[in-house]
Amino acid sequence: MNMCFNKKTIISFILSGLVLSGLSGCASFSNEQEELVADNVVNAASQYTLMVKAADENGGKLPGYTNAKGEVVYINPADWRSGFFPGSLWYLYKLSNDEKWKSLAEKYTGKLEEIQYLTNHHDVGFMIGCSYLNGLRFAGIKEYAPVIVQTAKSLSTRFRPNAGVIQSWDVIGGWQSKRGWECPVIIDNMMNLELLFEATALSCDSTYYNIAVSHADRTLENHFRNDNSCYHVVDYDLENGTVRSRQTAQGYADESAWARGQAWAIYGYTMCYRYTHNPEYLKQACNVYEFIFTHKNLPQDLIPYWDFDALNIPKEPRDVSAASVIASALYELYTYAPEQKYKETADRIVQTLSTPAYRAEVGTNGNFILMHSVGSIPHNAEIDVPLNYADYYFLEALARKSEK
Ligand code: GLY
Repeated sequence: MNMCFNKKTIISFILSGLVLSGLSGCASFSNEQEELVADNVVNAASQYTLMVKAADENGGKLPGYTNAKGEVVYINPADWRSGFFPGSLWYLYKLSNDEKWKSLAEKYTGKLEEIQYLTNHHDVGFMIGCSYLNGLRFAGIKEYAPVIVQTAKSLSTRFRPNAGVIQSWDVIGGWQSKRGWECPVIIDNMMNLELLFEATALSCDSTYYNIAVSHADRTLENHFRNDNSCYHVVDYDLENGTVRSRQTAQGYADESAWARGQAWAIYGYTMCYRYTHNPEYLKQACNVYEFIFTHKNLPQDLIPYWDFDALNIPKEPRDVSAASVIASALYELYTYAPEQKYKETADRIVQTLSTPAYRAEVGTNGNFILMHSVGSIPHNAEIDVPLNYADYYFLEALARKSEK
């Protein structure tokens, strides 16, 4: 194992952070929990040291996931997942304070520079948020601010005023053109709003904030069922703004609850509460929690099947990426709705993901941290493989956990 980190250094770093933030006396953050975070950081640093070496040897490409043969698939900067690898490097920097990760994060963040001008899909919030925004937050790199504002400007070109939403996908090509949609909005799109809120804070231009709020409000109105689960895709009429249909793209069925969709929903509304203090957003995040954690098909270990209604449960693949996103969201939710269950559930998920059932041995798994995620079963893509975003949200969860 590469020991550029050792547990003692990491525990003392985490503890010094807690002292600085006045939380050192917090009884709920036990030594056992500190050890768990420290152990995960050592493990992640070892894996990502190997992953960076391989990426460097491949011309500085961005690792995305592994294929059926277990080989790492590298993705291009225009892919929606491109920000997660640099984002994980930023989290390693935050968790370790080791400058090595800062320079690697800067190097791989720079690969996404052109994305600030990308306007043909909505995912720029993921891409630039995980890379440039984290660099601004964790390392104070001021040159990143204009990139964030320009990206928000590009994303805003997808705002459809009559419907009050940001259009997720174009419908003029690819598989999306075969679905008969006019203005498809997917629940994942909630995740892009963070960049808009931040762009308003950086530029003092409230346009971005207003677009984000409009999108969150319309999604609240139209994406959720009575049981607080959400649809994946809602298609809007571009002329009169009404809902044309509610469907799925990556879930089991139109009326099913795709696990990662529920994860984006709980994360998205928690994050929107951070910027707006709108109690309706907080309530929705809590409602989604109730849906997920009272569901009869949620396994005991809290790692969901890829869809809560998948046909062959319990013989269906789990989706670790959904679990990572949910854990990270719950640590934040706990800071606004301080019910112990949110933190305890997040802790249980992190604990489970740290076991050999889900966390890969160093040197295996294409050097990704976590195993057993699902990209899209309907597209027969990335089934039961590591995904870079499962790792990213796991590292974010560890960082948030160590701030408690
Ligand atoms: N945003 C795409 C996905 O969650 O698969």
